[in-house]
Amino acid sequence: MAHRNVAAKAGLSAGLRALAVGVMGTVLALVAVLLLRTATFPRLDELHGWGRPGAFRIPAQFSEAELKAVKEALKEAIRIPTVAFSSENINTTALTEFGEHLRKVFPSMFSTSFIQHEIVEKYSHLFTIHGSNPKLEPYMLLAHIDVVPAPDDGWEVPPFSGLERDGFIYGRGTLDNKNSAMAILQAMELLLRRNYVPQRSFYISLGHDEEVSGKYGAQKIAALLESRGVRLSFIIDEGSYIMDGFLAGFKKPFAVIAVSEKGGMNLKLQVDSAPGHSSAPPKETSIGILAAAVSRLEQTPMPNMFGYGTEKNMLEQLAGQFGFPMNIVLTNLWIFGPIVSRILEKSPVINAMIRTTVALTMFNAGIKVNVIPSTSQAMINFRIHPGQTIPEVLEIVQNIVADDRVQYQVLNAFNPLPLSPYDHEAFGYQLLRRTIRDVFPEVSVVVPGICIGNTDVRLYSNISTGLYRFNPVPMNPESFKSFHGLNERISIKAYENQVMFLFELIQNADTEKVPEPHVHEL
Ligand SMILES: *[C@@H]1O[C@H](CO)[C@@H](O)[C@H](O)[C@H]1NC(C)=O
Ligand SMILES: *[C@@H]1O[C@H](CO)[C@@H](O)[C@H](O)[C@H]1NC(C)=O
Repeated sequence: MAHRNVAAKAGLSAGLRALAVGVMGTVLALVAVLLLRTATFPRLDELHGWGRPGAFRIPAQFSEAELKAVKEALKEAIRIPTVAFSSENINTTALTEFGEHLRKVFPSMFSTSFIQHEIVEKYSHLFTIHGSNPKLEPYMLLAHIDVVPAPDDGWEVPPFSGLERDGFIYGRGTLDNKNSAMAILQAMELLLRRNYVPQRSFYISLGHDEEVSGKYGAQKIAALLESRGVRLSFIIDEGSYIMDGFLAGFKKPFAVIAVSEKGGMNLKLQVDSAPGHSSAPPKETSIGILAAAVSRLEQTPMPNMFGYGTEKNMLEQLAGQFGFPMNIVLTNLWIFGPIVSRILEKSPVINAMIRTTVALTMFNAGIKVNVIPSTSQAMINFRIHPGQTIPEVLEIVQNIVADDRVQYQVLNAFNPLPLSPYDHEAFGYQLLRRTIRDVFPEVSVVVPGICIGNTDVRLYSNISTGLYRFNPVPMNPESFKSFHGLNERISIKAYENQVMFLFELIQNADTEKVPEPHVHEL
């Protein structure tokens, strides 16, 4: 995943712990005197009734030899250093080698009559799997094959060795994101060997430059499909996980499906003033004016957007898993919302989930110590909350700066992604939710979230409104640090489960409608 949205989630834990403490003291008395609603959430037994109408369901049972091949194929993939150093410098030798590896370990994917394989922009892969029922709208499974650089320093095993140790496979890409690229093809390969023919068509898309923009991979594939008139029911990419051990007082893991991601804007601020000698300085210089402007921006937070994203729904659903009084507080955000959001914003990570963030990242002015500079410039990086747009943020910025000597130039910007649907009618979301509960019975609840970084899936917004980010692997605070960091690894069990998840998900998609959940009052 690009831009370290992961470290982000690690902070969730600290934030919610602070929340627990803060809320306890403040509202306990209030809770006692109010008659409040308790949590309502669907029960785990609702999963019955799945199935592919009129078809035999293939059980997810694999031989020892198959499981060995599954893990060896991943190790070999890790050993190919498909490093993206910059958008113009990716190891193309390794990308080519990676394509050869796919052919070798997934032969059925390349020899089945109803599967078409295309190479896009030399290194990205697009598989079209033609289903038997053209009435079912197709979907897409998305992943990327490039990785960020990993110098050997600090690693317990060399980052491109793919070594196995204590039940883990180590190496760059084991989580971000060769695990997904390999598991998707692996699951389909195993299904094909069992003579599976899907009813619903789908695409598998593997981009080769996600870490450095996606402009030659995902963007070209999206444009290609758009030119063919393809519409997708939903797309599943990386970007969120099964969270384990993140919340104090919350023993069971819970799954977060990210239904949106933040937008971004790089803005240049500039102040020009008459140059001169420092011996007779004017009352204000461009440096002073610009410094005051950016300082106001840093001191004045953007509006708190709590309630305009998914955080409210997320907290309400998590509520049932907490004890008193947190359960009461979180199920009654109509009254406790303001205080909860006030406490949440103290954690930088959660703050990033509930508002547009402002990061002053560059400041340039002056060339000589005795010369008043004629111009000063500052660069600011904004991450835009899904409840806002680029023009709205610009207007707020101008109102905060409130100085017409400051000029603005948008260097580049993209709007946040709209929230993909996550109600009972949302096929992609419900399909994920049900499959999570089938394969990971230990998961207590599945909630919608927002990704504060960016992934390839945002480039597909023209061909689908159901963009979901979910990587079916458990994450604990420790493993988060390994993303783009040291000792990235995946347990063999977790990888097998990921393959099994996809094996089930692909079969589950062969239905017109996810069965209605039964909601019980608890
Ligand atoms: C690029 O990949 C090739 C083939 O896998 C490898 O031999 C080479 O060392 C890599 N180059 C860099 C700079 O990582
Ligand atoms: C979607 O389509 C519009 C209009 O053709 C285009 O300008 C835009 O770049 C496309 N978006 C993406 C993410 O490709």
